[in-house]
Amino acid sequence: MPLIAVLPGDGIGPEVTREARRVLEALALGLDFEEAPVGGAAYLLTGRPLPEETLALAKKADAVLFGAIGDPRFEALERRLRPEAALLGIRRELGLFANLRPATLFPALADASPLKPEVVAGLDLVIVRELVGDVYFGEKGRRHDAEGLRQGFDIMSYNEAEVERIARVGFEMAKRRKKKLCSVDKANVLETSQLWRDVVNEMATEYPDVHLTHMYVDNAAMQLVRAPAAFDVIVTGNLFGDILSDQASMCAGSIGMLPSASLCAWSGDNGMYEPIHGSAPDIAGQGKANPCGAILSAAMLLRHSLGNEEAALKVERAVGEALAKGARTADLGGSMSTAEMGDAVLKELV
Ligand code: NAD
Ligand code: IPM
Ligand code: MN
Repeated sequence: MPLIAVLPGDGIGPEVTREARRVLEALALGLDFEEAPVGGAAYLLTGRPLPEETLALAKKADAVLFGAIGDPRFEALERRLRPEAALLGIRRELGLFANLRPATLFPALADASPLKPEVVAGLDLVIVRELVGDVYFGEKGRRHDAEGLRQGFDIMSYNEAEVERIARVGFEMAKRRKKKLCSVDKANVLETSQLWRDVVNEMATEYPDVHLTHMYVDNAAMQLVRAPAAFDVIVTGNLFGDILSDQASMCAGSIGMLPSASLCAWSGDNGMYEPIHGSAPDIAGQGKANPCGAILSAAMLLRHSLGNEEAALKVERAVGEALAKGARTADLGGSMSTAEMGDAVLKELV
């Protein structure tokens, strides 16, 4: 029986994860679930955001269903004790370098985006975000500069192997879709990005059927508002991918809609699945959170870690049907609670 590690985390994490788990359970696939604390919740219990037992469970499991972490109460702690350290730690320990963040417009949500319906119509893009490198994992610290002023630093770097493995995911993904790959960087200023661009260009000869373009990240942010449906696959680094995916979420109606898969290979093998949003302290504990991103993450788990495309499509269709029948949480302009939205999806799961 496949084992699913459930790490609900903080804030709305447990609220949305509960709905995603209910959906997986309703499919009656004989999955085993084991839950463990992570983030601020784990810090309160054990003094550490990522207890060894939690990491061991994540490593042992066939897949990890992750909620969200983050709690303003712990912002003053040293960095390694903050909730975010747990998420970064799991990503790195499990080698989850490839983060797939699809942004698709469910037709029923055409008017939920702050962008005009004709601008977001046909939105169907995937951001392939590198997840274990970049400025996130470089040397960082504080020091005093030559003038004695306090200075903070975070080193940005990628080596060619790190670029190649994530670019390959982008090319392979584009090959299976509309064959358009847009590599996003800041090569006009950053040497890290120039190497990124060189490596991606060198690989292009292996993929003659994929139309490769390059775009500076500032332009990409603008194009995501001007004509988001023109994108197919975007491949980019850790920081740019983080920012652009929150932006892309609003083309799909709400940040509460977007799922993600974090993988260590092209397919499967103890991948981690989580909505792209955070713990949303402003609405936590109120039953207001949209669980669709978490539910759609469960669909990605079925597809990538369990190889069950049929079940994945079933879940995605159920979300689409529920939305088509008017199910809406507050972020989508409705008044349903998190659990009611979960119920609406479950009702369509036939
Ligand atoms: P956030 O994503 O938590 O919230 C941003 C805004 O979007 C808030 O107004 C929130 O209410 C809304 N929102 C988010 N998810 C929603 C949902 N499912 N339904 C309805 N509304 C939703 O980002 P933030 O406020 O910048 O960060 C809060 C905390 O979460 C921080 O501690 C941050 O580090 C952490 N964080 C964690 C993750 C993660 O676990 N993967 C991701 C992003 C941020
Ligand atoms: C995300 C989050 C994380 C990131 C934080 C919480 C470390 O914003 O998963 O998008 O920056 O990767
Ligand atoms: Mn983010």
